[in-house]
Amino acid sequence: MSAELTAVITGASSGIGEAAARRLARDPGYRLVLVARREERLSALARELGRATVLAVDLTDPEAPGRVRELLEREHRGQIHLLVNNAGAAWRGSFAETGWANVERHMKLNFEAPVRLTEALLPLLRNTARAHGRVAIVNVGSTASRVSRPASGAYSASKFALAGWTDALGAEERPHGVHVGLVLPGFVATEGFPARELRGRVATKWIVSSPERVAEAIVDAGPGGKAERYVPRPYWLAAAARVLAPGLVRRAIARGAFTTAVGSDEGDSK
Ligand SMILES: NC(=O)c1ccc[n+]([C@@H]2O[C@H](COP(=O)([O-])OP(=O)(O)OC[C@H]3O[C@@H](n4cnc5c(N)ncnc54)[C@H](OP(=O)(O)O)[C@@H]3O)[C@@H](O)[C@H]2O)c1
Repeated sequence: MSAELTAVITGASSGIGEAAARRLARDPGYRLVLVARREERLSALARELGRATVLAVDLTDPEAPGRVRELLEREHRGQIHLLVNNAGAAWRGSFAETGWANVERHMKLNFEAPVRLTEALLPLLRNTARAHGRVAIVNVGSTASRVSRPASGAYSASKFALAGWTDALGAEERPHGVHVGLVLPGFVATEGFPARELRGRVATKWIVSSPERVAEAIVDAGPGGKAERYVPRPYWLAAAARVLAPGLVRRAIARGAFTTAVGSDEGDSK
């Protein structure tokens, strides 16, 4: 491996992406490329961490993937050892109320944007793997990639799509030295997903995790080579129950039981 490793982290201006940047910056080998829309946040983080460049861009802009690629070619010799597709958001609402428009905006940000960014960077990832050994992509899905709840159908659709695509990409890219891992967080208290109600109740606050724990899972699913990581780990039980007893799970969800038992995010982004 080369002494200097380049990691691109999307959604690095807050929450899980910011925690992932801080976690990777503890490894002196990494130089970070921090991507999100809020430049002042990214610049402040880059100043604090050092060895980081920033790119303020809306990832749903069709030109965004090309701009990330250009930056890597200009400032990082076209090398990329780790791509963390983390930027994402949720806007709650039933299908009857919010319709296709809400499905479309989730798909654009949570599915189309990481797919397009990966498409633009895959040649660089493969080249880097050829020259320096294994490289990795980590896609940040959700427990909502496996279990869907009322008012989160559009979000779940985008995260289910991301999980399905991740599995295929992982198999396709394995021979090229590009590992593709999936991280599936449950409730994690962040700006976009504050989980206020859950944190406010003694009975439920224990199920809310921290961005730092997800950052560790990102390292496991990226450089660590794990196929997927739930955060907290026992959340895989929800995914297993969904496969083994779909009728039961669907009835439980309809009764609201999984609101506190499953990590489908409480997000409602601006
Ligand atoms: N927190 C949870 O409970 C939870 C659970 C499961 C999965 N997740 C997933 O974890 C990921 C990170 O979420 P988080 O909890 O850390 O939320 P967050 O604090 O709201 O962070 C979201 C990040 O995405 C960026 N972003 C949003 N829209 C963007 C756009 N159009 N272009 C570029 N960047 C954009 C935001 O930056 P700017 O606003 O500066 O652009 C921000 O840095 C998401 O994919 C989310 O679905 C979260």
